[in-house]
Amino acid sequence: MIFRASDVLIKTVQGDLERVLFDEATILRRLDEIAAQISKDYRDRELTVIVVLNGSLVFMADLMRRIPLPLRLDCLSVASYHGKARTSGEVIFNQVAPPDVKDRHVLILDDILDSGHTLAAIREKLEMAEPRSIRICVLLSKKKQRARKIGADYIGFEIDDEFVVGYGLDYDERYRNLPYIGVLRRELIK
Ligand code: IMP
Ligand code: MG
Repeated sequence: MIFRASDVLIKTVQGDLERVLFDEATILRRLDEIAAQISKDYRDRELTVIVVLNGSLVFMADLMRRIPLPLRLDCLSVASYHGKARTSGEVIFNQVAPPDVKDRHVLILDDILDSGHTLAAIREKLEMAEPRSIRICVLLSKKKQRARKIGADYIGFEIDDEFVVGYGLDYDERYRNLPYIGVLRRELIK
Protein backbone atom coordinates (compact mmCIF):
# COMPACT_ATOMS: atom_id res chain seq x y z
CA MET A 1 0.00 0.00 0.00
CA ILE A 2 1.24 3.49 -0.81
CA PHE A 3 1.51 5.76 2.22
CA ARG A 4 -0.01 9.17 1.71
CA ALA A 5 0.58 11.72 4.44
CA SER A 6 -2.62 13.50 3.43
CA ASP A 7 -4.70 10.37 4.11
CA VAL A 8 -3.40 10.20 7.68
CA LEU A 9 -4.01 13.91 8.17
CA ILE A 10 -7.51 13.67 6.74
CA LYS A 11 -8.35 10.89 9.22
CA THR A 12 -6.97 12.93 12.13
CA VAL A 13 -8.94 16.08 11.45
CA GLN A 14 -11.98 14.98 9.49
CA GLY A 15 -14.02 14.97 12.68
CA ASP A 16 -13.20 18.66 13.20
CA LEU A 17 -14.84 19.67 9.94
CA GLU A 18 -18.52 20.12 9.32
CA ARG A 19 -18.02 19.54 5.60
CA VAL A 20 -15.52 19.93 2.78
CA LEU A 21 -16.21 22.93 0.55
CA PHE A 22 -13.54 22.61 -2.16
CA ASP A 23 -11.36 19.58 -2.77
CA GLU A 24 -7.84 19.84 -4.14
CA ALA A 25 -8.76 19.15 -7.77
CA THR A 26 -11.50 21.80 -7.69
CA ILE A 27 -9.12 24.39 -6.21
CA LEU A 28 -6.41 23.67 -8.79
CA ARG A 29 -8.88 23.81 -11.68
CA ARG A 30 -10.01 27.25 -10.50
CA LEU A 31 -6.37 28.39 -10.14
CA ASP A 32 -5.80 27.43 -13.80
CA GLU A 33 -8.61 29.82 -14.75
CA ILE A 34 -7.47 32.71 -12.54
CA ALA A 35 -3.84 32.32 -13.62
CA ALA A 36 -4.88 32.41 -17.28
CA GLN A 37 -6.85 35.61 -16.66
CA ILE A 38 -3.98 37.26 -14.75
CA SER A 39 -1.46 36.22 -17.43
CA LYS A 40 -3.69 37.75 -20.10
CA ASP A 41 -4.31 40.99 -18.17
CA TYR A 42 -0.61 41.53 -17.38
CA ARG A 43 0.97 40.35 -20.62
CA ASP A 44 3.90 42.58 -21.67
CA ARG A 45 4.13 43.96 -18.13
CA GLU A 46 6.28 42.97 -15.18
CA LEU A 47 4.19 41.95 -12.24
CA THR A 48 5.07 42.40 -8.57
CA VAL A 49 3.20 39.92 -6.43
CA ILE A 50 2.82 40.85 -2.75
CA VAL A 51 1.83 37.86 -0.65
CA VAL A 52 0.12 38.33 2.68
CA LEU A 53 1.60 35.79 5.12
CA ASN A 54 0.90 33.15 6.38
CA GLY A 55 -2.50 32.12 5.09
CA SER A 56 -1.70 32.78 1.42
CA LEU A 57 1.46 30.67 1.20
CA VAL A 58 -0.11 27.55 -0.29
CA PHE A 59 -2.34 29.55 -2.62
CA MET A 60 0.63 31.66 -3.76
CA ALA A 61 2.83 28.64 -4.47
CA ASP A 62 0.20 26.98 -6.66
CA LEU A 63 -0.93 30.17 -8.38
CA MET A 64 2.43 31.70 -9.30
CA ARG A 65 3.62 28.49 -10.95
CA ARG A 66 0.71 28.85 -13.34
CA ILE A 67 1.63 32.41 -14.39
CA PRO A 68 4.26 32.36 -17.17
CA LEU A 69 5.17 36.06 -16.86
CA PRO A 70 8.28 37.78 -15.53
CA LEU A 71 7.36 38.49 -11.94
CA ARG A 72 8.78 39.55 -8.61
CA LEU A 73 7.65 38.29 -5.27
CA ASP A 74 7.55 40.06 -1.94
CA CYS A 75 5.92 39.08 1.33
CA LEU A 76 4.04 41.16 3.86
CA SER A 77 3.29 40.03 7.34
CA VAL A 78 0.44 41.57 9.28
CA ALA A 79 -1.36 40.76 12.48
CA SER A 80 -5.04 41.57 12.42
CA TYR A 81 -6.43 39.21 15.01
CA HIS A 82 -6.74 39.47 18.74
CA GLY A 83 -9.13 36.56 19.00
CA LYS A 84 -8.61 33.34 17.09
CA ALA A 85 -11.53 33.66 14.71
CA ARG A 86 -12.47 37.32 14.79
CA THR A 87 -10.92 40.37 13.20
CA SER A 88 -10.09 43.15 15.60
CA GLY A 89 -10.13 45.88 13.01
CA GLU A 90 -6.63 46.95 13.96
CA VAL A 91 -3.99 45.86 11.45
CA ILE A 92 -0.39 45.79 12.62
CA PHE A 93 2.43 45.61 10.07
CA ASN A 94 5.25 43.37 11.21
CA GLN A 95 7.93 44.95 9.02
CA VAL A 96 9.22 48.46 9.45
CA ALA A 97 9.43 49.25 5.74
CA PRO A 98 6.89 47.97 3.23
CA PRO A 99 8.25 46.50 -0.04
CA ASP A 100 9.48 49.09 -2.55
CA VAL A 101 6.76 49.05 -5.23
CA LYS A 102 7.29 52.46 -6.82
CA ASP A 103 6.17 52.43 -10.48
CA ARG A 104 5.37 48.71 -10.31
CA HIS A 105 2.27 46.78 -11.23
CA VAL A 106 1.30 45.27 -7.90
CA LEU A 107 -0.93 42.26 -7.37
CA ILE A 108 -1.76 41.62 -3.71
CA LEU A 109 -2.51 37.98 -2.90
CA ASP A 110 -4.51 37.13 0.19
CA ASP A 111 -6.23 33.97 1.32
CA ILE A 112 -9.62 35.38 2.23
CA LEU A 113 -11.57 38.61 2.18
CA ASP A 114 -13.67 38.79 5.31
CA SER A 115 -14.31 42.13 7.06
CA GLY A 116 -11.93 43.87 4.64
CA HIS A 117 -9.79 45.48 7.38
CA THR A 118 -6.61 43.65 6.40
CA LEU A 119 -6.72 44.28 2.66
CA ALA A 120 -7.86 47.88 3.07
CA ALA A 121 -4.91 48.60 5.38
CA ILE A 122 -2.43 46.83 3.08
CA ARG A 123 -3.73 48.63 0.04
CA GLU A 124 -3.43 52.02 1.76
CA LYS A 125 0.09 51.23 2.91
CA LEU A 126 1.24 50.15 -0.56
CA GLU A 127 -0.42 53.11 -2.26
CA MET A 128 1.87 55.39 -0.28
CA ALA A 129 4.81 53.85 -2.16
CA GLU A 130 3.31 55.04 -5.49
CA PRO A 131 2.95 51.86 -7.53
CA ARG A 132 1.84 52.15 -11.16
CA SER A 133 -1.21 49.99 -10.44
CA ILE A 134 -2.66 47.84 -7.66
CA ARG A 135 -5.01 44.90 -7.95
CA ILE A 136 -6.15 42.36 -5.40
CA CYS A 137 -6.49 38.60 -5.81
CA VAL A 138 -8.08 36.44 -3.12
CA LEU A 139 -8.71 32.74 -3.02
CA LEU A 140 -11.95 33.16 -1.07
CA SER A 141 -14.39 35.99 -0.55
CA LYS A 142 -17.12 35.86 2.08
CA LYS A 143 -20.53 37.05 1.00
CA LYS A 144 -21.25 39.59 3.69
CA GLN A 145 -21.47 43.25 4.57
CA ARG A 146 -17.85 44.37 5.05
CA ALA A 147 -16.56 46.81 7.65
CA ARG A 148 -14.34 48.39 4.96
CA LYS A 149 -15.34 49.13 1.41
CA ILE A 150 -12.97 46.94 -0.54
CA GLY A 151 -13.36 44.39 -3.30
CA ALA A 152 -11.04 42.00 -5.11
CA ASP A 153 -10.24 41.99 -8.82
CA TYR A 154 -9.71 38.22 -8.94
CA ILE A 155 -11.68 35.84 -6.71
CA GLY A 156 -11.26 32.08 -6.51
CA PHE A 157 -14.56 31.25 -4.84
CA GLU A 158 -17.31 33.17 -3.08
CA ILE A 159 -18.43 31.50 0.12
CA ASP A 160 -21.04 32.00 2.82
CA ASP A 161 -20.03 33.71 6.04
CA GLU A 162 -18.63 30.61 7.77
CA PHE A 163 -15.22 29.92 9.30
CA VAL A 164 -13.12 27.83 6.91
CA VAL A 165 -9.73 26.13 7.25
CA GLY A 166 -7.24 24.27 5.10
CA TYR A 167 -5.13 25.01 2.00
CA GLY A 168 -3.17 27.61 4.03
CA LEU A 169 -6.05 28.89 6.17
CA ASP A 170 -5.81 28.28 9.90
CA TYR A 171 -7.72 28.28 13.10
CA ASP A 172 -5.27 29.02 15.93
CA GLU A 173 -2.40 28.10 13.55
CA ARG A 174 -3.80 24.62 12.86
CA TYR A 175 -5.16 23.00 9.68
CA ARG A 176 -2.98 25.00 7.26
CA ASN A 177 -1.59 21.79 5.74
CA LEU A 178 -4.95 20.31 4.76
CA PRO A 179 -4.95 19.97 0.96
CA TYR A 180 -8.60 21.03 0.73
CA ILE A 181 -10.85 23.73 2.23
CA GLY A 182 -13.55 22.87 4.74
CA VAL A 183 -15.90 24.47 7.24
CA LEU A 184 -14.73 24.12 10.83
CA ARG A 185 -17.31 22.77 13.26
CA ARG A 186 -18.82 25.70 15.09
CA GLU A 187 -18.38 24.25 18.57
CA LEU A 188 -14.58 24.15 18.08
CA ILE A 189 -14.42 27.94 17.65
CA LYS A 190 -13.77 29.74 20.91
P1 IMP B 1 -10.35 40.59 7.34
O1 IMP B 1 -9.37 41.64 7.74
O2 IMP B 1 -11.51 40.47 8.27
O3 IMP B 1 -10.81 40.71 5.88
O4 IMP B 1 -9.65 39.19 7.54
C1 IMP B 1 -8.65 38.76 6.75
C2 IMP B 1 -7.82 37.71 7.45
O5 IMP B 1 -8.54 37.04 8.49
C3 IMP B 1 -7.48 36.64 6.44
O6 IMP B 1 -6.27 36.95 5.77
C4 IMP B 1 -7.39 35.40 7.30
O7 IMP B 1 -6.09 35.25 7.83
C5 IMP B 1 -8.35 35.65 8.45
N1 IMP B 1 -9.66 34.99 8.22
C6 IMP B 1 -10.84 35.58 7.96
N2 IMP B 1 -11.82 34.68 7.81
C7 IMP B 1 -11.24 33.47 7.96
C8 IMP B 1 -11.72 32.10 7.91
O8 IMP B 1 -12.90 31.81 7.65
N3 IMP B 1 -10.80 31.14 8.15
C9 IMP B 1 -9.49 31.39 8.41
N4 IMP B 1 -8.99 32.64 8.46
C10 IMP B 1 -9.86 33.67 8.24
MG1 MG C 1 -5.29 33.46 10.09
